[in-house]
Amino acid sequence: MQILKDLGFELDPKNMTNAYWKSRAAEALALTTQDRDVYGCLDHTRGEGVRIFDIEGTEYLDVTGGVAVRALGLRYKPYLEFEEKINDVIRELPGMDFDAIPQTLLAEKLATLTPGDHKKRVVFTTSGGRAVEGCMKSAMDLSGKRRFVAFRPAFHGRTGYALALTSSNSKHKSGFPQGVDVVRVFYPYCYRCPYGTHVEDCSLECVEALRYALQVEGNDIAATVMEPLCGEGGLIVPPSKAVQGFYEVSKEFDAYFMSDEVQAGMGRTGKWCAMANHDVVPDYISMAKALGGGYPMGASIGPAPMYTSGSRHSETFSAEPKMSLLSLWVIKQIEDGDYLKKNAEKGAYLLKRLNELKDKYEVVGDVRGLGLMVGVEFVKDKKSKEKAPKLRDKIVKTAVQKHQLWILGAGQNCIRFTPSYVITQEELDDAVDRLDKSIADSI
Ligand SMILES: Cc1ncc(COP(=O)(O)O)c(C=O)c1O
Repeated sequence: MQILKDLGFELDPKNMTNAYWKSRAAEALALTTQDRDVYGCLDHTRGEGVRIFDIEGTEYLDVTGGVAVRALGLRYKPYLEFEEKINDVIRELPGMDFDAIPQTLLAEKLATLTPGDHKKRVVFTTSGGRAVEGCMKSAMDLSGKRRFVAFRPAFHGRTGYALALTSSNSKHKSGFPQGVDVVRVFYPYCYRCPYGTHVEDCSLECVEALRYALQVEGNDIAATVMEPLCGEGGLIVPPSKAVQGFYEVSKEFDAYFMSDEVQAGMGRTGKWCAMANHDVVPDYISMAKALGGGYPMGASIGPAPMYTSGSRHSETFSAEPKMSLLSLWVIKQIEDGDYLKKNAEKGAYLLKRLNELKDKYEVVGDVRGLGLMVGVEFVKDKKSKEKAPKLRDKIVKTAVQKHQLWILGAGQNCIRFTPSYVITQEELDDAVDRLDKSIADSI
């Protein structure tokens, strides 16, 4: 707080309340995604690992990981030390108009970590949406085609071309023009199979639906864009055979296949790229969130040469040296700390614990996930599977305000766990216990 004072702001101790700062924020900040009815005002001076604090001093157990951004938790000591070490690095060198060594090394590293031996090229961005768009522009540029296949639900960002692919909430899209043409098919959502079948005995009607759509709607597809695990849309884990089917149909129609790894990538699911869980090698990969270790860093990774000529794409603030070094450091930590294996193990444990809640509560319809990306779907009852969005909202509010579990919703009636990789088994137990109490208090 002294820093703010040094910057000339008067901070009256009696105004250090959530209510005061939330009302000031509401007057100053545009209406976006903040839910001030649920969440307090975060204290930017406190926090460690998966513990965060609001400005009234309340401590929370954070299972959002900053919406999958903080791979290594808050104030991870080795991270702070590394940041200190590179304090002197020049950070005012924009990354695209001139070369510097760190971004080249980062591009080379990402090319080796991502699936496939094909020649890749990388373009850096400052957000997930732009990481998606860098790939989309490349797919259009290389193929000469402009139409995309996307899914319902899906989330790929809120700007331009990425928004055109998004379909997880009408509020994101209503009234905004469609940036590119999209053929949309159902995401393989086996708990609520839109074709009324079951995963054990289905004939991949969802894949056939894509083939049919391309036959009747037009087959000039630049790329099929898919989340390897649908995040914002409700933490939906697709069966690998369906993902493989979508890949094959895309290839039948000579389209690229793109995996949007912005939320699920960077080792969260136990693989560097979550698409590797489905044994599919995508042509394009978009990454962001955890890649920057808290800084806005994204990457579009695609087939060489990526663009047909220079200046087809660029972004001023891309991969400046300090951010590139931090990304390289985060990757090294994930490798050295064996986090891929640990994330898979911890995720399996979390699923097991959450399945206990599914056995206990009629309103817990489904529990699913890969590694440390896990969702819980709330329903009126198990038989009808009627979605229970109001109950979900109540559980989230109770979890945050009564049991100090900092958790987020996903989709219409789900919640999500995307904790930092440093979360311990005891902390996962604690989180499940807090959720258990929140459900009991809300039904
Ligand atoms: C899969 C996926 N793609 C793209 C995005 C957009 O990222 P950003 O908000 O950084 O633009 C998100 C954000 O949650 C995401 O989950």
